[in-house]
Amino acid sequence: MLDRPAWRTYGGSVTPATAPSSQRDVSAEIAALHEQARAGDAQPRLHFPPYRSSVLRAPTKDLVQVDQEGAELVAPVFGHGDVDPLEADLTIGTGTGTPIGERLTIRGRVLDGDGRPVRRQLVEVWQANAAGRYVHQRDQHPAPLDPSFSGTGRCLTDDDGWYAFTTIKPGPYPWRNHHNAWRPAHIHFSLFGTEFTQRLVTQVYFPGDPLFPYDPILQSITDERARALLVATYDHDLSEHERQTGYRWDVVLSGPHATALNTDDDRG
Ligand SMILES: [Fe+2]
Repeated sequence: MLDRPAWRTYGGSVTPATAPSSQRDVSAEIAALHEQARAGDAQPRLHFPPYRSSVLRAPTKDLVQVDQEGAELVAPVFGHGDVDPLEADLTIGTGTGTPIGERLTIRGRVLDGDGRPVRRQLVEVWQANAAGRYVHQRDQHPAPLDPSFSGTGRCLTDDDGWYAFTTIKPGPYPWRNHHNAWRPAHIHFSLFGTEFTQRLVTQVYFPGDPLFPYDPILQSITDERARALLVATYDHDLSEHERQTGYRWDVVLSGPHATALNTDDDRG
């Protein structure tokens, strides 16, 4: 459920043989790779050395072709009764009160490459709490857990492709990619298509985060415009009086405006 959280070894067992790199080293590596990159390269690099563990898991062989017919036989199907609308509100349901943090709504549409709504699709989210801590046994960095916040939710898109979640703004958190490495605040998103082979996973960020340039996961998308598509937009019309702020973020599944995917292997 995490992406290289704090206090965790790379890939479960592999640790760097030498002292961890500094942010200065990693930033220089990112700058050099961006310099070489082609404009318009909208998806993340699977092999992006500043993101250390990507080197260990980037494919080194040709990908296996999936039997399309077989994949369709095990297509996920979600009906009206399978996903409770309350599961889209991450601020309720633990039975222990209200979570601490900045409450917000994030809402948007899931669209195909032609701008058509993608209907009745399962959208799942997971995130750290306001202090930057996940509810996960492998996340043991010294930030508090919030007993009122599990950090997981899901919903189905409606007939116009809309999804919406109410949640708490996640905090940034440290991880062990390099010395003093911090992830920008983000929410993980998973979208199931109409087949298991179509599952897409990505992350959404919040505007103005000072950690963007330092983060090798976000920077593994070398095209600046493509990175910007992963940043939600503050939407005052989505904010509610004395209740919560609002953000808009659309997901485009294909075409020139497609949302960049997540290269992280550890996504649940
Ligand atoms: Fe994360």
